[in-house]
Amino acid sequence: MEQMRCLGPGDAGALRQLAERIGWSFTPEQAALYVGGIGRVFGLWRDGGLVATAALHPYDGRVARLGNVMVDPAHRRQGLATRLLKACLAEARSASLRVCLVATEMGEPLYRKLGFETIEFIHRFVFDPARPLSPQPAAMGNVRRLEPGDLRDVVRLDERAFGASRRSLIEALFTGGAHAWAHMAEDGVHQDFAFGLQRSRRRMSGVYSGRVCQGFALGLQRSSRTNLGAVVADAVSIAQALVAYACEELTETRALVRLDVPGWQTDFRAWLAASGFREECVSPLMQFGHARDCGAWSRWFALYDPALG
Ligand SMILES: CC(C)(COP(=O)(O)OP(=O)(O)OC[C@H]1O[C@@H](n2cnc3c(N)ncnc32)[C@H](O)[C@@H]1OP(=O)(O)O)[C@@H](O)C(=O)NCCC(=O)NCCS
Repeated sequence: MEQMRCLGPGDAGALRQLAERIGWSFTPEQAALYVGGIGRVFGLWRDGGLVATAALHPYDGRVARLGNVMVDPAHRRQGLATRLLKACLAEARSASLRVCLVATEMGEPLYRKLGFETIEFIHRFVFDPARPLSPQPAAMGNVRRLEPGDLRDVVRLDERAFGASRRSLIEALFTGGAHAWAHMAEDGVHQDFAFGLQRSRRRMSGVYSGRVCQGFALGLQRSSRTNLGAVVADAVSIAQALVAYACEELTETRALVRLDVPGWQTDFRAWLAASGFREECVSPLMQFGHARDCGAWSRWFALYDPALG
């Protein structure tokens, strides 16, 4: 017997087991996040067992990311992925969402067949934080652990970079225990835009802390690695400082650090390569139908993960 329905919080275990069968590995927290309401995970059950999934993560009613497209090896080439993707795309179309995804080598022909086209590439870098990162960027002195009071600024920075608010995702990750760092500009030394932001904050709320958040990075613990992302920053030097600081703090986790970096960040990618990061693979960033997102993508240095964008 076959059934198609969306996964709920009670299905996190089934999602992890399916991921295991296709050779991926989700931590319990990661699976709980995916099925916990930040998006819709469409699933196909056969004889009570979950055999295929595809997830749509809509942000701010404007854009969506597609991910977790998985089909049990015993049920492939029967059109299951196509059926689930069509369900995701129908939902995206009815809500007028622009859809992007990061494709694997196996998934790319399937997405092309459905009308997706490649608009960029995502470069995966890995680094062993037990090794010293060299050279160390000067701006590290302005980085510190993210505090709950920074969240409003972080959501705003992320929205400006990405083109839609991902408030609930950021809050879920932060309260779920993700590592998190912020780059704070010293009073009087920030860039032009920060002066503007500072002035308008004074004007609008009358509250001004004296320091402005110019970038942030999250570190998501996965099974054998730490995903360093999202990394969002107003300048490449700030992104470098965040990564260097995070790597130093992550030394004791003994897990490799991974970053998924968009192709357009050429200076950042060159710096990662020169600092000891190894490029592991390159995957197409594909979009369905519409023009590119409206965010200031130059400020977007690393993805949360391929499924979430
Ligand atoms: C990629 C994957 C989801 C495809 O699932 P599926 O249910 O077998 O796909 P479908 O049956 O709907 O395939 C539809 C079409 O996509 C293309 N396609 C699917 N798998 C393919 C493959 N391995 N190689 C080449 N083309 C493929 C074919 O054109 C296929 O049509 P056809 O069978 O009539 O030739 C599945 O192989 C999988 O789970 N792979 C591992 C996880 C992964 O890489 N997911 C993609 C994440 S971005």
